[in-house]
Amino acid sequence: MKEGLEELRKKANTELDSAVCREELLAIKTRYLGRKGLLTQFLRKLKDVPAEARPALGQLSNVIKESLSRRTEERLKNVGLVKKDGILQEEKIDVTLPGRGVEYGKIHPVTRVSNEICEIFSILGFNVVEGPEVELDYYNFEALNIPKDHPARDMQDTFYVTDDVVLRTHTSPVQIRVMEKEQPPIRIISPGKVYRPDSDISHTPMFHQIEGLLVDKGITFGDLKGILTFFLHEVFGKDTLLRFRPSFFPFTEPSAEVDIQCVMCHGAGCSVCGQSGWLEILGSGMVDPEVFKTVGYDPEAVSGFAFGLGLERIAMLKYGISDIRLFFENDQKFLKQF
Ligand code: FA5
Ligand code: MG
Repeated sequence: MKEGLEELRKKANTELDSAVCREELLAIKTRYLGRKGLLTQFLRKLKDVPAEARPALGQLSNVIKESLSRRTEERLKNVGLVKKDGILQEEKIDVTLPGRGVEYGKIHPVTRVSNEICEIFSILGFNVVEGPEVELDYYNFEALNIPKDHPARDMQDTFYVTDDVVLRTHTSPVQIRVMEKEQPPIRIISPGKVYRPDSDISHTPMFHQIEGLLVDKGITFGDLKGILTFFLHEVFGKDTLLRFRPSFFPFTEPSAEVDIQCVMCHGAGCSVCGQSGWLEILGSGMVDPEVFKTVGYDPEAVSGFAFGLGLERIAMLKYGISDIRLFFENDQKFLKQF
């Protein structure tokens, strides 16, 4: 009988040791220590044992019962931990693996060109100012000498928000906002987004312009020419040929558009410049006396010039990009070249 008890203890211990979950442990506990368990059955047989052998066997079975209970409790405590270990193992992070590396962004070519131009004009004493993109019709057109129903409105297709509010079609309204608030001398440039319902290889519905305005006593067309020449030579190189071509804007008189010799064919004529050898780069002119009157300046006392250029156009020429739409597709491969 004693051997039987020892055998039972050994078996139970082996089973307890190899159990891997709570349910299994509880089943083992019931199988050995339950009311109908193996140990209980064993104890029932004690009555058939000779009286003098009973106390020793009884004591042994109590010891076994206690030790099995204790062992079961211990295993029950750490079976949870083992399970947690399994989770930890699954979620293990190998901190020695090489990292994935930080991807550096690049400054967008349009921002790059904008910064460069702002810097050049800062050297010349111009301040950078900004204006709203959702603009009153008054600033975008009327104060710039383009009354309602005037044919000059057709020069720039317009997104209307309401009858009196538009998405600005150019950065020129900033001229008016500055002159309304400040007295000459004025030297500002204003970069920003503008909108027109246009879309093809050289036009997008949103693009960027930089406006420039200089107003002081005795400013002449010579000043306009000198400053724009200096600026364009800084951007495209001192050898770049320039052409000042008579043009028309309602808010400047006289007006000129400036062309640079085609950067692709150097004047020989190609598809980019439409075989002309020249590329239009900006609009400019002497501020129209009507505009001065509107903002309360005396056109007899002060004069000035203004200009506006398309930033994408400049970036395309500078970096040899053939389709303006590439700027707005957010293709990393395209953007990373600059
Ligand atoms: C103007 O917007 C005038 N405000 C410029 C000006 C300012 C003249 C101050 C005189 C005094 P224009 O519509 O030509 O002018 O536009 C200027 C430049 O914007 C163009 O030379 C061109 O480079 C660019 N541009 C015009 N439309 C688009 C478009 N849809 N997409 C990209 N660039 C455009
Ligand atoms: Mg034009």
